[in-house]
Amino acid sequence: MSRTLVTGSAGRLGRSVVSALAAAGHEVIGVDSVPGTPGDAAATLPADLTDLGETYEVFARFRPDAVLHLAAIATPFSRSDAVTFRTNTALAFNVCDAAVALGIGKVVVASSPTVVGYGSPSGWAPAYLPIDETHPTQPWNAYNLSKLVAEETMRSFARTAATRLAAFRPCFVIAPEEWAGAPTQSGHTVTERLDQPEIAGVSLFNYLDARDAADLLMALLDRLPGLPNGEVFFAGAADALAREPLAELLPRVIPSTAGFAETLTGTSPAFTSAKAERLLGWQAKRSWRTELSA
Ligand SMILES: NC(=O)c1ccc[n+]([C@@H]2O[C@H](COP(=O)([O-])OP(=O)(O)OC[C@H]3O[C@@H](n4cnc5c(N)ncnc54)[C@H](O)[C@@H]3O)[C@@H](O)[C@H]2O)c1
Repeated sequence: MSRTLVTGSAGRLGRSVVSALAAAGHEVIGVDSVPGTPGDAAATLPADLTDLGETYEVFARFRPDAVLHLAAIATPFSRSDAVTFRTNTALAFNVCDAAVALGIGKVVVASSPTVVGYGSPSGWAPAYLPIDETHPTQPWNAYNLSKLVAEETMRSFARTAATRLAAFRPCFVIAPEEWAGAPTQSGHTVTERLDQPEIAGVSLFNYLDARDAADLLMALLDRLPGLPNGEVFFAGAADALAREPLAELLPRVIPSTAGFAETLTGTSPAFTSAKAERLLGWQAKRSWRTELSA
């Protein structure tokens, strides 16, 4: 049985990942600075992983085979820029440093599609659509900068470590209770995001069911030993969180996408997960069309 440590296990994504790992037979250790919810699939150990000593201590105590690093200040502008940058970059460094030093075999770091820079107040246009992992990055706030630094941190350890490392960029995560009407990370319900396109338009109508994210992480853990070290993967639903084709909707909501959006046919999204499909055999199974409660 594989022993997997999940940082940020009490969070929106962490709870689904812990459940999926436990259901797949992993021994799961959850670590978070806040307590878990009663009924979670694994108990949460309280720890502040911005403290390097505490990170070493937790990893040394459990000696996991793999670490899924999800802990972060996950919402842009929810804290001051300085705290967001300092926290997220320290977390990524401490997790990679402790895992590599202690000989943990596999590490996956959560990044974000926001690293490409959409939503910038000074204007942003895609280089092309759909956006893939080779698209230029243009961080413009403390959150997306911290995520790009987290990716680079992972990559820098991957150049010399025996540990196999990767990062993934999950699209806007929707947890099971949010399909049933609970507010999403932005504070809006999924239905509001569909009915008012200017809300989801900011993130180019991207989304991902949290359980699909968990499936991707399990596929990544399986395939990591055979991949080049330090790869990054987008992970998004197979369609856009929109009631109209993005070819028409996207240029209306984000005029700078005109001239690019016509490549998006039918219900297809603005981000492609083709790399994850090719290298991991993963595709998102869930869509708002099947998951949203009436
Ligand atoms: N939710 C999304 O739409 C989305 C999209 C792209 C990327 N991500 C990334 O995925 C990861 C998980 O996101 P989420 O939506 O579950 O966020 P979340 O805020 O629900 O969960 C993050 C968890 O990290 C914990 N944490 C924060 N600081 C910590 C510390 N110092 N030590 C230990 N734990 C700490 C928090 O207490 C929280 O439970 C984050 O890295 C986020 O940046 C999320």
